Amino acid sequence: MVQKRKELQNQYLSRNSKFDYLPDTDRYLSSVNQPKYKFNVIGSGNIGQEHMRVTLMEGRATIHGIYDPNPNSVKQAKKLFSTLAPNSPLVVYESLEAACHDPEVDGLMICTPNYTHIEIVKEAVKSSKHILLEKPMATTIQDAYEINQIAKNYKPVFQIGLQYRYKAIYIETIHEALERKALGDIKTISIMEHRIPFLDKVKQWNKFSKYSGGTLVEKCCHYFDLMNLLAQAKPVQVYASGSTAVNFTEFEYNGEKSDIIDNAFVIVTYENGIRASFNLNMFSPMFYEEIVICGNKGRLKASENEDFLSSERPRNQLEIMRGEGKPSKVSNPCYPSYIERSGHSGATYYEHIYFIDNIEGKQTNTATVEEGFWSVVVGAAAEQSIKTGQSVTINDVLKENGVLV
Ligand SMILES: NC(=O)c1ccc[n+]([C@@H]2O[C@H](COP(=O)([O-])OP(=O)(O)OC[C@H]3O[C@@H](n4cnc5c(N)ncnc54)[C@H](O)[C@@H]3O)[C@@H](O)[C@H]2O)c1
Repeated sequence: MVQKRKELQNQYLSRNSKFDYLPDTDRYLSSVNQPKYKFNVIGSGNIGQEHMRVTLMEGRATIHGIYDPNPNSVKQAKKLFSTLAPNSPLVVYESLEAACHDPEVDGLMICTPNYTHIEIVKEAVKSSKHILLEKPMATTIQDAYEINQIAKNYKPVFQIGLQYRYKAIYIETIHEALERKALGDIKTISIMEHRIPFLDKVKQWNKFSKYSGGTLVEKCCHYFDLMNLLAQAKPVQVYASGSTAVNFTEFEYNGEKSDIIDNAFVIVTYENGIRASFNLNMFSPMFYEEIVICGNKGRLKASENEDFLSSERPRNQLEIMRGEGKPSKVSNPCYPSYIERSGHSGATYYEHIYFIDNIEGKQTNTATVEEGFWSVVVGAAAEQSIKTGQSVTINDVLKENGVLV
């Protein structure tokens, strides 16, 4: 019988295959818990496979099966699973319905292109299984609202994959700004994302606004979620300027030209007076994220950098300047490197921990469906503002979309 260990607060030793020679009876620090839950992955492309990897790494659940109409996604997911769990079978479902309603399964991870989310959610909720729905929850405000309404009466866990809030820099930012209140009253928030262009996807859905919701919905909902969370208020006004300056200007797929933007400046005003800005650039040879928050008692700046260079320098930095009154500090928040490497700087790993904590009834701060909705609202309003050149009042945009909040 494997003894339950208390000494280590992590799974590092139990995941380490170096200890596989040990009989079960001799495992203590490296004891392995049997997974309690089984999940199905719907859409086994890029993030679907990250969820498979991280589910097994987290250890309280396993992957039971996958559903994906693209044979290559299935083939690669099967290959991945056979290396992660060599002796475990993986069910490959023939239909969405079969994947959603397998009685063996406790939870569904919806990892398909954005425009498919609403129809898949409508089938998934019939199962009464726990749901992790990838961001953005929908491509339009109407669809996001409809999912929000569906989720209101849904008893099992319904979590949105807005996991950036678990990156080490944002965990610390949230702690300093909201819990410790190190900056006093927050007045301004400014977020920057500079990165390489959108990657290739199955059927290149992310090159077309009708499939993705547009760049500011598809990718930037992560940052609008952070902004909304840090502002602790509803957005009231959005103004944005953006264009397609460099990327995919010649790109066509099935005879259709790409219509997504690759740079933008977005300004958001919140009902409590906080003003925020977002600066996107998608033709930078790196990944760089930065947040600057100014309050009446201090300024916080945090950044995450991946520039592919060989020179060693900290990937994550955070500084808090508090003048003469209180101590300032400069730090490098990070997780163990094997967790950061597991995907999205470790954020997906913590998203899984909290997904299962939610299933077990523990209190977490995972993104709710309502928070997912508001992240789409800001992104869609910004896309609209770019098209019209006018600032967008959130109340108006909600009314135009038939949304009552
Ligand atoms: N949270 C994050 O940080 C993060 C990161 C990447 C992607 N995403 C989101 O995850 C979703 C998938 O993105 P991706 O990068 O994995 O795309 P992808 O193109 O790599 O994979 C999507 C997969 O879904 C499959 N698919 C398409 N329609 C389907 C359907 N009706 N039923 C089942 N499978 C279907 C495709 O064949 C493909 O294998 C998107 O919503 C995206 O925005 C989130």
